[in-house]
Amino acid sequence: MKRIGMLTSGGDCQALNAAMRGVVKTLCHSKEEVEIYGFLDGYRGLIYGNFQMLTGNDFSGILTKGGTILGTSRTPFKTIQDPDENGLNKVEAMKQNYHKLQLDCLVILGGNGTHKTANLLRKEGLNVVTLPKTIDNDLWGTDMTFGFQSAVDIATDAIDCIHTTAASHGRVFIVEVMGHKVGWLTLNAGIASGADIILLPEIPYDIDRVIDKIEERDKNGSRFTIIAVAEGAISKKDAKLSKKELKEKIKNRPYPSVSYEIAAKIQEKTGREVRVTVPGHMQRGGSPCPYDRVFASRLGSEAGKLILENEYGFMVGYKNREIVRVPLEEVAGKLKMVDPDASIVKEAKLLGISFGD
Ligand code: F6P
Repeated sequence: MKRIGMLTSGGDCQALNAAMRGVVKTLCHSKEEVEIYGFLDGYRGLIYGNFQMLTGNDFSGILTKGGTILGTSRTPFKTIQDPDENGLNKVEAMKQNYHKLQLDCLVILGGNGTHKTANLLRKEGLNVVTLPKTIDNDLWGTDMTFGFQSAVDIATDAIDCIHTTAASHGRVFIVEVMGHKVGWLTLNAGIASGADIILLPEIPYDIDRVIDKIEERDKNGSRFTIIAVAEGAISKKDAKLSKKELKEKIKNRPYPSVSYEIAAKIQEKTGREVRVTVPGHMQRGGSPCPYDRVFASRLGSEAGKLILENEYGFMVGYKNREIVRVPLEEVAGKLKMVDPDASIVKEAKLLGISFGD
């Protein structure tokens, strides 16, 4: 008999359900008897003992369903060791609930913050297996996270739509793509949709270089320019600020986001008409794309296998086209960022895409 606790934590994404289904199907197809405890709304459910007992049937028909049937929430790692408003020790509470239910392991689906807490629980002696979710694709130890490809599809569709209206009106259009710390999504959606300029957190931009590209296109007879901007894109000037100074600057910025700041600068310096579009949380919503359905199912099935083999303390990841087991301590606390010298960036530059650097 295996008693499994399962939870999804952090921002949702497509294919969370597909991944959980993969785990449960694998367990249910083994000879092992299985009890599944689904903790609701992420770590919060584990902390406060809020769970539902689930069976294999609960995971049927959810392969194509977006979101997460367990609900999710953000439980920041930086405060996980602080008592809650009633003085409850959250880490101890999670351990107690785990032991009270006599769980054999926890299956935790999440991104960076989630993995830090998962690793803490592992160090505290709990058996943990994790799965890499996030549209940001910024988890260390895996070439790909599920949710990413689906989000690339949506962001690409958004930029495709903008292309036709931008061309008709001869406007400069900025499309703001999710990703505060990393630019994988913007980079891929930008290339996929033929963006002319791509601005990423990892490659600080100079507004004058951005304008150079717009003017170069003008000279060559292109009446419009598409700029894909990551939420966390940063100017060369701002990149020199300390973390604290930058936080303060963003707090007092008279614009809702960096895209509006860039739009205002372009407008002011060139007199061009600039529009901003923000697809926002649409990028995390809806059905997973076929790639993510397959990918999350494969990851889930390997997680099920780990549990059947009593192998714990791993994230199931993807390296060189193979599903792999990555020790949690190698994953937790590290970000996988776009390397400005990566070949994908060089290739994009060869295609004529400007990074504003
Ligand atoms: O989960 C990742 C992510 O979608 C980022 O790309 C984005 O910056 C952030 O979450 C948005 O967070 P929230 O859903 O809390 O607004």
